[in-house]
Amino acid sequence: MSDISPPERRNFYGRVHGKTLRASQKSYLAEDLDHLTLSGVTVADNPDRVALDVKALFGDGPLWLEVGFGGGEHLVHMAARYRDVTLIGCEPFVNGIAMLLGKLRAAEVDNVHIHPGDVRDLFDVLPVACLDKAFLNYPDPWPKARHHRRRFVTPGYLALLARVMKPGAEFRVATDIPDYVRQTLEEVPPAGFDLIAQTGQGQAWEDWISTRYEQKALREGRDPHYLTFRRQA
Ligand SMILES: C[S@@+](CC[C@H](N)C(=O)[O-])C[C@H]1O[C@@H](n2cnc3c(N)ncnc32)[C@H](O)[C@@H]1O
Repeated sequence: MSDISPPERRNFYGRVHGKTLRASQKSYLAEDLDHLTLSGVTVADNPDRVALDVKALFGDGPLWLEVGFGGGEHLVHMAARYRDVTLIGCEPFVNGIAMLLGKLRAAEVDNVHIHPGDVRDLFDVLPVACLDKAFLNYPDPWPKARHHRRRFVTPGYLALLARVMKPGAEFRVATDIPDYVRQTLEEVPPAGFDLIAQTGQGQAWEDWISTRYEQKALREGRDPHYLTFRRQA
């Protein structure tokens, strides 16, 4: 599978650029992105793929990850709510990153770090069992059957995720696509996770905030599903 290939041979199928950025968004990218970006994650930055020293970087507190934060609503909400937690957000879509940066300024939070790229590059350089929680909100659905192997909930991605999660760490998945629920329930447990809860619309996590993609799903008549897993010991 592409996702267990060496980083320089991986394919990323999503969008990296969208519509033209506003002047304010360009200035957020120019002024804020560098100092919020985790160094030592990309192949160019860390060709030997040396593991990050997470204790030196972030201290002893909890470390959480959001995969594909989109416009950043959930990431900023969690950072503001849990100021003692360090959050890493990964997102290759520049327009989403610019939106996040605007929200970070407004929320005045300082516990967020960004990898503006593919989460698999981050997985490579995180040490074993370092994450206390991971969020996958409205992952790209890849509706065509021949594209299902591009989904995050496939063995290649999940093995990388499982390696870096602490025993007992929580993995949350939100999606509006019934076939994505099916594949999540099929693929996540064999990767080393137990299903803890599965709920539907109106029954999200107590600390949930609805994202842009969830709002789009609701407008278009699709139902949210919320799945909670725990990394096995
Ligand atoms: C459908 S959007 C959902 C965005 C957001 N989580 C929300 O709920 O509004 C999925 C996002 O995942 C990102 N994504 C896809 N593959 C990724 C990867 N390998 N690493 C990091 N982000 C990824 C995409 O760029 C996209 O912004």
